[in-house]
Amino acid sequence: MKIVVYASVFLALLLGGCGGDDRVDGSGNNVDKKLREKIDGFGLTGDPSADRNIPSVDDAKVQLGMKLFYTKALSLDFDAACVSCHHPLLGGGDNLSFPIGAEAMDPNLLGPGRLHKNTGNSFFDGGPTVPRNAPTTFNAALFDVGMFWDNRVESKTGTTGANGGDADNILMPGQSDSERIDSLVGNLPSTQALFPITSAEEMRSFGHAELQNGDAVRHYLSDRLSGANGNEDLSERARNVWLEAFQKGFNTPDGNASTLITIENIASAIGEYERSQLFIDNPWKAYIEGDIDAISESAKKGALLFYSGYDEGGANCVQCHSGDFFSDGALYVMAVPQVGRGKNHDASTEDYGRANITLNDEDKYKFRNMSLLNISQTGPWGHSGAFTSLKAIVKHMLNPDESVQNYNPYTELKQRGIAVQCNDVEVNTAHALEQLHVNRQKGISPHKNVVFTEEQVNQLVAFLETLTDPCVEDSQCLSAWIPDPRSPNFELLQQLNATFQ
Ligand code: HEC
Ligand code: HEC
Repeated sequence: MKIVVYASVFLALLLGGCGGDDRVDGSGNNVDKKLREKIDGFGLTGDPSADRNIPSVDDAKVQLGMKLFYTKALSLDFDAACVSCHHPLLGGGDNLSFPIGAEAMDPNLLGPGRLHKNTGNSFFDGGPTVPRNAPTTFNAALFDVGMFWDNRVESKTGTTGANGGDADNILMPGQSDSERIDSLVGNLPSTQALFPITSAEEMRSFGHAELQNGDAVRHYLSDRLSGANGNEDLSERARNVWLEAFQKGFNTPDGNASTLITIENIASAIGEYERSQLFIDNPWKAYIEGDIDAISESAKKGALLFYSGYDEGGANCVQCHSGDFFSDGALYVMAVPQVGRGKNHDASTEDYGRANITLNDEDKYKFRNMSLLNISQTGPWGHSGAFTSLKAIVKHMLNPDESVQNYNPYTELKQRGIAVQCNDVEVNTAHALEQLHVNRQKGISPHKNVVFTEEQVNQLVAFLETLTDPCVEDSQCLSAWIPDPRSPNFELLQQLNATFQ
């Protein structure tokens, strides 16, 4: 009896000691219990696809979309496809800080070996020409707010679960980024698909001066596939194969080329292919569902840091990377280093982010908060691909001031030796950091700097690594999203057959 009393007093003291200190140390077996409280508190289920309509990769329209996603025939010079920068085997991206689209030396070569031709055109500066990092297309069906790093394709309602598909509710850029007009096509991914084909650096390239605006390029390309208006870029045989693919994809066996092969249908099918890329079955989901051995002790401690507030000694990542999709879709200044040629409305090397769309100074350097699903596979990270290790971007998210101070683009970037695009990093990044400070002072930015030990940073990284669906690391599993080069008509459809370096 006496022993039991002593034991319980001892236990009470022990527990009291822990309870009195509400900092997150994740010590002892308490970590599962504390984590369960967080999971319940934030209402997490592990499944961001619940109540969504996700197409199967076997759907006829998805299969058509896959052919379109892989075809070089949607680039004016037949030298780039969507997949040039968004390959499933590269995490739905390109494994580059800055993409190279049109005018690559070898259009079929993806990854760090991909180089830009020295074309002598005035836009080429010795490095990649695209100003921002290519985000993944994986889980495109889970976005409800907007697409692109600045949300310039944006749902007017943001309706949860709608993917922008609640009729007539998407705004997109018109003739300039800041001119917003209504989208003509179904949802966020299909609306987004209207833009890469009109971007000179990505797929349009620089010739064909007669095509004076985006719509002219779009119709030129749909006419190319359909053969309308005497556009004879493709052989009659190739056009017949495309017609058959559209007839199948839209379940209209007797449909004719001019009504089926339209820019709206092209965008809609590409969007469906992207929406079929659902990769959410990860160890963290298994843990939430009750398999407490699905993730390591270190990952559990990292999860606690992720979900705990500043006052509890946590990193409060969840205030922005919220829900089962790990993003609230909103725009924040995080001062990720401003590398690259820039994207702006004043011909500087700055990337003004959201302010390019709103022309409002308050939106300068704001970028969209990213989903963290499959994050270990989707690097380099940040809107400028500034970071090539997960640890480095995590350190930046914890403490942008310290990270910027230590940042060296010459060692950190995926593409080295592009000095011309690194010249203004220091001064441009200082502007973004200044904006973060101002936003904190005004109470617009909820972010606070956090000082963590190396061990805690490693724990956060270990947690992020549990968000990867094993399918995206398995070429066999991904093969459903990649056309087979041995399939008939592979060449006729100008499918890109990727090699990697
Ligand atoms: C040259 C490389 C390149 C090519 C080719 C390309 N993209 Fe992208 N993609 C990018 C870059 C860079 C961004 C980010 C641009 C921005 O935010 O300003 C992007 C953004 C996206 C996004 C938004 C993802 C998000 O998180 O919001 C989707 C979806 C996408 N691309 C699909 C496509 C499709 C579909 C095609 C073909 C029609 C295509 N891309 C062709 C480089 C490319
Ligand atoms: C105030 C909101 C906010 C907080 C808090 C925040 N993030 Fe982010 N996160 C963002 C935004 C915005 C971006 C995109 C920034 C950019 O590239 O300019 C981002 C990008 C990232 C990326 C890179 C995504 C990619 O695809 O390149 C990672 C990884 C990340 N955050 C992890 C974290 C972690 C871990 C924490 C907690 C330590 C955290 N974030 C805290 C807003 C936030």
